[in-house]
Parts: sequence; structure tokens; C-alpha cells
Amino acid sequence: MILSKSLSLRTILCILALLNSLAFILASPIRKDAYVPETKTFYLHLYKAKLSPDGFERVVWTVNGTYTGPTLVVTKGDRLIIHVINNLGEPTSMHFHGFFQRGTNWYDGVPGQTQCPIPNNTTFIYNFTIPDQSGTFWYHSHYLAQYVDGVLGAIIVKDPNDPYQNDYDEEIVVLLSDWYHNESSTLISYYLSPASEGKEPQPDNGLINGRNNYNCEWAHASHKCIDKAGLSKFNFVPGKRYRLRVINTSAFSNFIFSIDEHEMDLIEVEGMMTKRHKIHRLIINVAQRYSVIVTADKLISNFWMRADLQADCFYDSSTPIVNLNPYVKAIVHYEGANHLDPTTKGWADNPNHRYHCIDLNVSNLKPLFLENVPAKADQIIYLNASFENDDFNINRGLINGSTYVVDIYNPTINQVLFENKNSFSLNQNIFGQFNTSEVIDIVVYNDDVGEHPFHLVSILDIIVYNNYYYGPYLCTYAHM
Ligand SMILES: *[C@@H]1O[C@H](CO)[C@@H](O)[C@H](O)[C@H]1NC(C)=O
Ligand SMILES: *[C@@H]1O[C@H](CO)[C@@H](O)[C@H](O)[C@H]1NC(C)=O
Ligand SMILES: *[C@@H]1O[C@H](CO)[C@@H](O)[C@H](O)[C@H]1NC(C)=O
Ligand SMILES: *[C@@H]1O[C@H](CO)[C@@H](O)[C@H](O)[C@H]1NC(C)=O
Ligand SMILES: *[C@@H]1O[C@H](CO)[C@@H](O)[C@H](O)[C@H]1NC(C)=O
Ligand SMILES: *[C@@H]1O[C@H](CO)[C@@H](O)[C@H](O)[C@H]1NC(C)=O
Ligand SMILES: *[C@@H]1O[C@H](CO)[C@@H](O)[C@H](O)[C@H]1NC(C)=O
Ligand SMILES: *[C@@H]1O[C@H](CO)[C@@H](O)[C@H](O)[C@H]1NC(C)=O
Ligand SMILES: *[C@@H]1O[C@H](CO)[C@@H](O)[C@H](O)[C@H]1NC(C)=O
Ligand SMILES: *[C@@H]1O[C@H](CO)[C@@H](O)[C@H](O)[C@H]1NC(C)=O
Repeated sequence: MILSKSLSLRTILCILALLNSLAFILASPIRKDAYVPETKTFYLHLYKAKLSPDGFERVVWTVNGTYTGPTLVVTKGDRLIIHVINNLGEPTSMHFHGFFQRGTNWYDGVPGQTQCPIPNNTTFIYNFTIPDQSGTFWYHSHYLAQYVDGVLGAIIVKDPNDPYQNDYDEEIVVLLSDWYHNESSTLISYYLSPASEGKEPQPDNGLINGRNNYNCEWAHASHKCIDKAGLSKFNFVPGKRYRLRVINTSAFSNFIFSIDEHEMDLIEVEGMMTKRHKIHRLIINVAQRYSVIVTADKLISNFWMRADLQADCFYDSSTPIVNLNPYVKAIVHYEGANHLDPTTKGWADNPNHRYHCIDLNVSNLKPLFLENVPAKADQIIYLNASFENDDFNINRGLINGSTYVVDIYNPTINQVLFENKNSFSLNQNIFGQFNTSEVIDIVVYNDDVGEHPFHLVSILDIIVYNNYYYGPYLCTYAHM
């Protein structure tokens, strides 16, 4: 498609009031490597299946029939061709969380911003490169709250020059999630009603790599539910060093992650390598990712891995927590140990460790490679994030007093490119238009009692090659 040249090289920053974390990550230092990038093709087949991750059977919205979905492993420099085959019975989209998508914003997977939803019984092919990022990422549906129903999985981007590659022997992906026995459509229609009074629905459980036990006495007698469905088990070979890639895929709940009696050396925060930093417990918010190195240097035995749900985050501490065990566990099993449940104590409960238990304090994280930070910003944008009841007593998230109303079949990128638009209605929450190369500081003030991570989505670079725009698609899907 050919468009007018005046639209070239314009960048519009759209800020969505979604869960997510704000990341200012600049290009990593250039290092020579011998790796020849490849094209990696993946097929993600989305469909509903009855599963019982914690023993309680429900309809899970799956990627390839499992919860969690398959882990995609690629190498820095690769091109990813990802076929998303939608058989969910409703529209969808796929967001590849944490990738810059420079020059391919239309593959960022955000309906209403960068694409139209992928209709039922339709395949959409994402096609992008990862030239300058590596580390721990994830993919998830960005349509309504489908990821809370299961449409998610990990993406690992290996660095051929990983500075820590000689410091660990094996890698383990650990996905943490809160888990709801109701489908998200039920949860959302309750939350967006006056009855909820703005209190988020309480999860029913927490899962580590898609597994946990549930007390079936809390379920209706008629509901299919198996007690002791089983915990995730991580096998450690004594003496080996493991890089654990921990990803928080929760909708809402905070966890504190730890392994009894094992210290962890933090080395990566969301694609950014850090100086080794020793901790005992890792606190991670929704959508955040960390890598830690753990050494199997204890006597051969079994140890609890923990992801304690922070119950005091559930709206307010006066609200009783019902039918929920916040002590989410998995088992670290040393090869050669028996198969009995561990009897170990958590860091904070162990009288030998209680007084020197180190929780992650992000102020102590230091990047491994120093990077040039621009001396000053061309523009500073101040944003105020808050929650308030609207005229119908429905609790809404607001940015600078305005709730975001998505025009899902008229994505912002299409409005800019096809309609040549540069002014938008207030509820599009577009707070600035910038030229490329401008340095922008974004200062987010959180006016809510809860923690709200933010992240950047859809910085819309529009590029021209020989007068052809490689850009957003009209919502016809005629090209597929
Ligand atoms: C998903 O399942 C299909 C078969 O339905 C398979 O061909 C494909 O490789 C699987 N995708 C991944 C990423 O494992
Ligand atoms: C979705 O597409 C499938 C064919 O793949 C069809 O059988 C089903 O009825 C469709 N569902 C809806 C809700 O349109
Ligand atoms: C689903 O898509 C296939 C391939 O495009 C088509 O042949 C089939 O008729 C569609 N099914 C429905 C129920 O729309
Ligand atoms: C992916 O994009 C590249 C660059 O635009 C193009 O050459 C290639 O044909 C595309 N591949 C697919 C499968 O669409
Ligand atoms: C979720 O399901 C349970 C059991 O079916 C029900 O009692 C509860 O009200 C539901 N919660 C919401 C928020 O809809
Ligand atoms: C995941 O994020 C949620 C929401 O911010 C948070 O409540 C939870 O504690 C986090 N989980 C972990 C393991 O940090
Ligand atoms: C985190 O570390 C910083 C810098 O060392 C310190 O000033 C701050 O008090 C610490 N915060 C907590 C909660 O310990
Ligand atoms: C958002 O509101 C704050 C004050 O609450 C104001 O200082 C700021 O300029 C506003 N930001 C934008 C982009 O309008
Ligand atoms: C942020 O927004 C809330 C709700 O609109 C308002 O009460 C508060 O004063 C604002 N704070 C700032 C710093 O503008
Ligand atoms: C973009 O650059 C042009 C030319 O330098 C300037 O006139 C214009 O004001 C800039 N736009 C923004 C939003 O800064």
C-alpha cells in the first residue's frame, strides 16, 4: 500500500492504562558474535479445553491445549514468524511482552492500538526480529482478559554472548500465576458493576508452572475436583547451578518467590543483565521477569519452592480472604532424595535466617553494562494514574482523569496512517506526539492504594522503504 510521504517518520506515543511496567531501556552495547541469525517459525493454536491445573476442572483458554502454553526459545538476532491460529470462538490477539518492535509496531498485538482483533477461525502471522534484546519474556493474548483464562507462555531469547553463560549449567522457566475458577468474562462483568465497589475479585489459587493443589471442600460438591492434584517438581542435580527464569503472569496478585535454604543471585531484570546481587526472597509484580542463579549445594533432600500470595494486597486487609491458601508451593527435588514432601521452613520462618533474610529491594540493582543515558529529555510527560467511580458507580482506571475507551476496529495506528489523523478524542488517552529521536521522560504518579506496574506499548514508528509502507493492516485480513 502506498501512502502520502508526509506521514513518514512520525512517532506517536500512546499510553494505555493497563497493568504493566514502565521500562526505559536503551540499546545494549554492541558486541561481536559469530551467531548467524535464523528465521524461527512457530504455530500457536488457540482453543478451549477442559483442564484441572489445580484439580478443579474448568474451561481453560489454551495455547496448543496446555496451561501454560509452549515455551518459545530463540536467539538474539532471529526473525520470529508466529502463526496464531484462532479457534477460541471469539476474537483474539497476541502480544509479545517486552519486545521493542522497532519498525514493526503493527505486530505488537494490541487491539485498538496496533491491529484489529483476529477473528475466530482465522490465522494471523506475526513477523518481527529481535535485533538487540535478550533475556526472559512472555507472550499473551491482549484481547480482553483472555490471558487470565490461559492464553500465555514464555519466550526465552538467548544471547550468544551471555555474560553469565559460564555461571550456570541448566535453565529452568518458572511461571507464576494467580488462578481463578471463574472465567474472566464473569470476573470482569462483576468487577465492572456497582456491586464490586471497585474491589478486585479474589483469586482462588496460585500456580507454579500451571500446577498446585486445591482444597476441594471449597468447591461445590457437584463440581469435578481432585484433591492433591500435584505440585510442580524441579529436579536438581547436586552441585549443578541453575538459571531460574521467573515470570509473573498474574492478573492481580503479588507473590514473594523463594526456595527454602537456597540463596539466589539475581542476574537479569526484564532483558537487562545486572551485577550479581544476592537475595533470599524475590518480590515480583504482574508481568515482571527476573533471572536468578541458584546452586544445588545443599545436602541431598527436598525443599519447598514458594510463591506466597501477598494477601494484604487483596483490596484492603479488612476484607476477609475466603477459601484461598496463599502459600503457593512447588518442590525442589535433589536427585537421589526420597519422594516425600519437603519439611523445610521458609526464609522468614526459619529461626536461623529470620534476622538476615534479604528481600529484593530494586534500589540495589545495578546494570552489568553501563549505558549512555541522554543528558536531558526533550520533553517530560507527567501522568496521573488513579481509579474512580464513574457516573454509574463503576470503578474505572484513569490517566489524568480520563478513562481509555478502545475503538477496537479502528486502531490508532490505522487512524494515523490511513486517515492522516493527528488529533484524537480525550478518551483515546493520547498524551503526546513526538518526532523520532526525541528523548521523552515519562513520570507516572500512582494515586491509588494498590501497586500498578506500567509498561510502554505501541510506540508507532512508521517506516518507508522505496515508497512502500510496511505498516498496519486494514482490518479486512484479505492478505491472509
Ligand atoms: C503447537 O501444536 C502444533 C500441532 O497442533 C504443532 O505443530 C506446533 O509445533 C506446536 N507449537 C509449539 C510452539 O510447540
Ligand atoms: C469459530 O470457528 C469455528 C470453526 O473453526 C466454528 O465451528 C465456530 O462455530 C466458530 N465460533 C463462533 C462463536 O463463531
Ligand atoms: C474456517 O476457516 C476455514 C479456512 O478459511 C474455512 O474453510 C471454514 O469454512 C471456516 N469455518 C467456519 C465455520 O467459518
Ligand atoms: C516477514 O517479513 C520479512 C521482511 O518484511 C519478509 O521478507 C518475509 O517475507 C516475511 N515473512 C512472512 C512469512 O510473512
Ligand atoms: C465465581 O464462582 C463462584 C462459584 O461458582 C461464585 O460463587 C462466585 O460468585 C463467582 N465470582 C464471581 C466474581 O463471579
Ligand atoms: C505478580 O504480580 C502481582 C500483581 O502485581 C503481584 O501481586 C504478585 O505478588 C506477583 N507475584 C510474584 C511472585 O511476585
Ligand atoms: C532499599 O535500598 C535503598 C538504598 O540502599 C534504601 O535507601 C531503602 O531504605 C531500601 N528500602 C527498603 C524497603 O529496605
Ligand atoms: C496530567 O496531569 C498533571 C497534573 O495532575 C499535569 O501536571 C500534567 O501536565 C498532565 N499531563 C498531560 C500530558 O496532560
Ligand atoms: C490524580 O487524579 C485524581 C483523580 O482524578 C485526583 O484526585 C488527584 O488529585 C490527581 N493527582 C494529581 C497529582 O494530579
Ligand atoms: C518535530 O520537528 C519539527 C521540525 O524540527 C518541529 O517543527 C515540530 O515542532 C516537531 N514536533 C514535535 C511534536 O516536537
